[in-house]
Amino acid sequence: MSRRPRDEPSSSYSSAQKRHNPGVAGGGYGAQQAYSEDQIQSMHVADHYSARTNQSLEERENSPIIHLKKLNNWIKSVLVQLYTRPGDRVLDLACGKGGDLIKWDKARVGYYVGVDIAEGSIKDCMTRFNGDSDQQRRKKFSFPARLICADCYETRLDKYLSEDAPFDICSCQFAMHYSWSTEARARQALANISALLRPGGTFIGTMPDANVIIKRLRETEAMEFGNSVYCITFGEEYAEKKFPASRPFGIKYKFHLEDAVDCPEWVVPFHLFKLLAEEYDLELVLMKNFHEFVNEYLQKPDFADLMRRLGALGDGRDKSTLSQDEWEVSYLYLAFVLRKRGAAPSQRRVGNTSRGKTFLAEEDIEVLSI
Ligand SMILES: C[S@@+](CC[C@H](N)C(=O)[O-])C[C@H]1O[C@@H](n2cnc3c(N)ncnc32)[C@H](O)[C@@H]1O
Repeated sequence: MSRRPRDEPSSSYSSAQKRHNPGVAGGGYGAQQAYSEDQIQSMHVADHYSARTNQSLEERENSPIIHLKKLNNWIKSVLVQLYTRPGDRVLDLACGKGGDLIKWDKARVGYYVGVDIAEGSIKDCMTRFNGDSDQQRRKKFSFPARLICADCYETRLDKYLSEDAPFDICSCQFAMHYSWSTEARARQALANISALLRPGGTFIGTMPDANVIIKRLRETEAMEFGNSVYCITFGEEYAEKKFPASRPFGIKYKFHLEDAVDCPEWVVPFHLFKLLAEEYDLELVLMKNFHEFVNEYLQKPDFADLMRRLGALGDGRDKSTLSQDEWEVSYLYLAFVLRKRGAAPSQRRVGNTSRGKTFLAEEDIEVLSI
């Protein structure tokens, strides 16, 4: 991986680099170098995802939430298919292990930039992009790509990626809520997206549905709720279960999802997300809880066919299908689409793609350090 020197436009860090680089003060959380509480939280999130290794096909099929994973993939595929045009330039924020690369390939995009805070995930993304992963054994992707290890919610990506901009579509799947720990981070996330999208460009995403989470919390006497596959725990500081609109950031809970997630997350009150996004010229086009999303788009023959092929609801040949507990988890999420204000240019601006490659070596992964 190539480390960007300090004077390149960057303000972020790699948690692994900070923790393991003996040249960094203390080399550990909260040692001599003073990290803010939210930086430390981000490092925990990064370490959690970095530590999750790629699963073999067999492990994946045996996962207790395999049908939920397939359902999530179907939802993301529908979003990609609805809002992407051939040749589009894609910015995939919090791209993880590149689980959406195939979706972008099927949409015949022209350029892809993936950014994630977790060094381990971005390396897995590179492996998948090169067509080398176990799960794949497929032809290589045809579009050039660039992979960056950075905190999307601290870093001035707009500066760093200014030559690659404008992007036609930005995607942030199952990750926007990690920006909601502070107002500054939420604003940096939206500022990056807005600055990098072209006028008329689209921002698609998925994140927890705060309304459902708060409703579930209030329905129980305890400070936690869940079922056989997930558990959400709020701290005693929220014992009154009141969440004043005047303090919408930093509302933390712990999320455990079997075989997937075990780390802190933040409540994103959607109406405030919408208002904040408007400040950055991003206008709401669509917001749907996953249940509503599934019920609506399953009516469309093409998407129903895709659902059958993915097998999220069973493939009709055996009895295996989404369990009630998995379906309950999907109710915790929503999908959204925002559009950058302004008319789309009549001719596509040909942005620079020269930093992208169709085969990526580890040295090609750019790590943005503080
Ligand atoms: C649930 S995973 C989703 C990954 C991918 N978007 C997908 O749908 O398969 C959440 C991802 O968000 C990333 N993430 C969390 N906080 C981040 C941050 N501040 N900057 C960049 N990535 C972040 C994690 O490393 C992880 O890969």
